[in-house]
Amino acid sequence: MSGNSFTVRDPKSGREFDLGVRSAVLGPDVIDIRNLFSQHDLFTYDPGYGSTASCESKITYIDGSKGVLMYRGYPVEQLAEKSTFIEVAYLLLYGELPSGDQLKDFDRSIRTHTMINETMLRLFNGFHYDAHPMAMVAGVVGSMSAFYHDTTDIHDPRHRDIFAHRIIAKLPTIAAAAYKHTVGQPFTYPRNELTYCENLLNMFFAVPPEPYQVDPVAAQALDLLFILHADHEQNCSTSTVRMAGSSGANPYSAIAAGIAALWGPAHGGANEAVLRMLEQIGSVDNIPKYVAKAKDKDDPFRLMGFGHRVYKNYDPRATIIRETCHRVLERMGGNQPLFELALRLEEIALKDEYFVEKKLYPNVDFYSGIIYRALGIPKSMFTVMFAIARTVGWVAHWREMITDPEGRIGRPRQLYTGPDRRDYPPLDKR
Ligand code: ACO
Repeated sequence: MSGNSFTVRDPKSGREFDLGVRSAVLGPDVIDIRNLFSQHDLFTYDPGYGSTASCESKITYIDGSKGVLMYRGYPVEQLAEKSTFIEVAYLLLYGELPSGDQLKDFDRSIRTHTMINETMLRLFNGFHYDAHPMAMVAGVVGSMSAFYHDTTDIHDPRHRDIFAHRIIAKLPTIAAAAYKHTVGQPFTYPRNELTYCENLLNMFFAVPPEPYQVDPVAAQALDLLFILHADHEQNCSTSTVRMAGSSGANPYSAIAAGIAALWGPAHGGANEAVLRMLEQIGSVDNIPKYVAKAKDKDDPFRLMGFGHRVYKNYDPRATIIRETCHRVLERMGGNQPLFELALRLEEIALKDEYFVEKKLYPNVDFYSGIIYRALGIPKSMFTVMFAIARTVGWVAHWREMITDPEGRIGRPRQLYTGPDRRDYPPLDKR
């Protein structure tokens, strides 16, 4: 590689040719392989996309080796300390922090789009009471394209804005409806005088027979978790939203695709899996047994909440969440022994050669479930919480993708290793 070009040698013809190199503001430069196939009849091979930049983006930057995460250039630690989820949502969507008036307008717009079409509520009755909330939320968000089809011209900036505000405002209402369905309680309508997270907690926990007072510590903790989960560059679910949206699909469907991708235990489903794992481990005495299982190649067990494709250092979000755990558990009286078990598990794993050598550190979801649980949110709703926060990032990426002049439908190629051409044999010759 020299200057802004990269020399490649075609293994078949022995011919050498140059590929362009594009500079990043931060992070590695990228080799531009767009014409590799059309001009040189070659593909690249990168299963899991560990070395592939799928797009150009100005939204989020991660330095995995240093444990750095920034939204639009602002370190997540500063946003977590000084900002709010709604302000971070504005930042991710529009690229800059809002002025006082812009924040007021945005906040008002989100607060006044919280109701969902009444007919949507009936959809929940079609689900069994024990349906996983992620299945319900993915299904109902997918159905939004049927309810809000009046403003989904993806080429109209105003329609894109209305979509963005609607989905961000309505996701908590849909999540709360899913929760109420699972516990068999009547749905609680949104209250627009409450903040985003206060409203969410109220819709979850208020019941008709008695007044419900939102605990400000709970709302603050949730707001912090939402800031930390709001975006994470081209992760599995975000790439899914971009891919689904690249066909010109209705944006609500693209978000539903993202929700489905997030559900997997290797991604957003890890927060639920961590809690189940901690309960399964049960006591500090059992930790060595489970660490040994995690290291055993013949055992499918993995230490959930550990490891990350990008972070080869402490996930900066995990550091902040661990601190918050102390505060929340003190106030809300959550499951202290479970937190202590998690702290001990982290300590033991981080001293273990296997985890050290593979650079496996706690990720964002190692501690988030402990906080959700202290707030009274059941395990099956943890990934739904993640989805509410990440919707902001998905929408920001979808908007960036739709307006990217270099954007095209996502269509990867493959290294074909199946049978060569062969003729169809008649049934009696097989
Ligand atoms: N426990 C035990 N071993 C692990 C773990 C773990 N949690 N994570 C990775 N490893 C090992 C792998 O077995 C592999 O070993 P090998 O090189 O000997 O084959 C090596 O570390 C690298 O792991 P990969 O799976 O190749 O790494 P990848 O980048 O593909 O996966 C992932 C990252 C999916 C996050 C993985 O670390 C994992 O499954 N962690 C547990 C689930 C989890 O917490 N997911 C949440 C991620 S954060 C998020 O999405 C919000």
